[in-house]
Amino acid sequence: MSTAPIGIFDSGYGGLTVMKEIVKNLPEYDYLYLGDNARAPYGGRSFDTIYQYTRQCVEYLFDQNCHLIILACNTASAKALRNIQQKDLPNIAPDRRVLGVIRPTAEVIGRYSKTGHVGVLGTSGTVNSNSYVMEIRQQFPELTVYQEACPMWVPLVENQEYDSDGADYFIQQHIDGILSQSPKIDTLLLACTHYPLLLDKIKTYVGDDITILSQGEIVAKSLDDYLQRHPEIAEKCTTGRSKKFLTTDSTDDFDDHAKFFWGKEIASEFIDL
Ligand code: DGL
Repeated sequence: MSTAPIGIFDSGYGGLTVMKEIVKNLPEYDYLYLGDNARAPYGGRSFDTIYQYTRQCVEYLFDQNCHLIILACNTASAKALRNIQQKDLPNIAPDRRVLGVIRPTAEVIGRYSKTGHVGVLGTSGTVNSNSYVMEIRQQFPELTVYQEACPMWVPLVENQEYDSDGADYFIQQHIDGILSQSPKIDTLLLACTHYPLLLDKIKTYVGDDITILSQGEIVAKSLDDYLQRHPEIAEKCTTGRSKKFLTTDSTDDFDDHAKFFWGKEIASEFIDL
């Protein structure tokens, strides 16, 4: 029988923080990760470009027999998911599914806030799309959502500066930026694949009374629920426990960086899109 893995897509290495939690929760499935490193970062790119790139990667994963794809990338979820779900899937793959990370997070964020004031930290693309504001409003109309774009945080992580003194300046700048928007913020969402690696530093600028949410576990739990509610999709995903990692750029570079996100060594394969 051929493998039908769950596809996990990200602009680069960051989605491994999400995949790690998914695999922890659902170890039995086969997984195929695709990082579009050759064209990353997506964070500052236009709507059309991100849609085009993401659609191309989704089609590639469909060709690899993925029936279910998770866009682990917040920027791609914010800018490409809706078009792919509504415009493309009915034509190219009506029986397959593509899910993002924004909806599952929006569905639970209200449970964490007592004050009703929540902050979202993300790339410029994610923040400018207003996707979180709209999705959270649908789920929890009583919440007030504040946002802050942190464009320097992805490069800090990718250059392994997340623990350095240099990181403090940019972390404090954006934590101050979001918290100054409302003294009532009691929940901060790390709405970017890379930010969990900055968690220790972020905590030093955020009081103990504020809950900091990383998405990996939330997305993993939501996928578990989804597969239980949709046996027709679950039964198309094979359960051989394999994990394969693809990158559109140098495999040496991917493997060097990926271990920081994944927690152990990875041997990726190159694909030419
Ligand atoms: N993966 C992206 C996200 O979660 C961050 C990296 C990028 O900008 O491509 O938004």
